[in-house]
Amino acid sequence: MDWGMKNRMSRLIGDDGRCFFLPIDHGYFQGPTTCLEKPGETIAPLLPYADALFVTRGVLRSCVDPGTSVPIILRVSGCTSIVGPGLENEALTTSIKDIIRLNASAVGVSVFIGTEYEHQTLKNLSRMVNMCEGYGIPVMAVTAVGKELEKRDVRYLALASRICAELGAKVVKTYYCKEFDKITGGCPVPVVIAGGPACDTELEVMEFVYDGVQKGAIGINLGRNVWRNKYPVAMMRALRAIIHDGAKPNEALEMFNELKNAK
Ligand code: 5RP
Repeated sequence: MDWGMKNRMSRLIGDDGRCFFLPIDHGYFQGPTTCLEKPGETIAPLLPYADALFVTRGVLRSCVDPGTSVPIILRVSGCTSIVGPGLENEALTTSIKDIIRLNASAVGVSVFIGTEYEHQTLKNLSRMVNMCEGYGIPVMAVTAVGKELEKRDVRYLALASRICAELGAKVVKTYYCKEFDKITGGCPVPVVIAGGPACDTELEVMEFVYDGVQKGAIGINLGRNVWRNKYPVAMMRALRAIIHDGAKPNEALEMFNELKNAK
């Protein structure tokens, strides 16, 4: 790995080998998602606890302070919407020139394996890897399932994650599932856990994050379960304790309860 690539990777992933990415890219197909209507206001109290921000170039330019020192992972695939015929028909949205101009530390591309658009979205990933490698910019692949949430089993996610790594992704973001070690065990690059729809309780989130990390995930890319929580800062800090300080779910919950009541 060249110096620039190593340097960018080390900005995203701490000395402990762990990371907490904060995604706010949902609007790229969902429009003004609940709690992300004004992304700048949502992230202001959370950014100090994020290891990177996952965001589109439009929201980055309009809502994020360019003085921030938080590394940026630029969402560079899209062009579909929740009200359209399907989410899978994605294209690349952002040129390498703009990626560099925005000083991105990495980029993120979704792939929809097992769909009609498998070939097209895997080509999107390969093209982005080809463009970014020359500039030392890591590509994070996102194993997306669109509306087919039932697809998120270990067999499918392990297959999808491995394919992304084979095509040159430096990091793979995939959903949590049981036997997560089968995903990390078959994927030669670091794996981060995606959030998915909101859980019923904080403890549920803490338990899947803890289990995923025990089973080889290097961290999380969690959005709605953080910024839709009534106490997002407490939630983020408690999850951070699991990722970076080895807290167990009950310890993280205790921390959450203490922080949410603090002034
Ligand atoms: C959308 C994404 C999001 O970054 C991802 O879904 C994480 O957010 P959440 O925790 O809210 O699911 O890649 O395609």
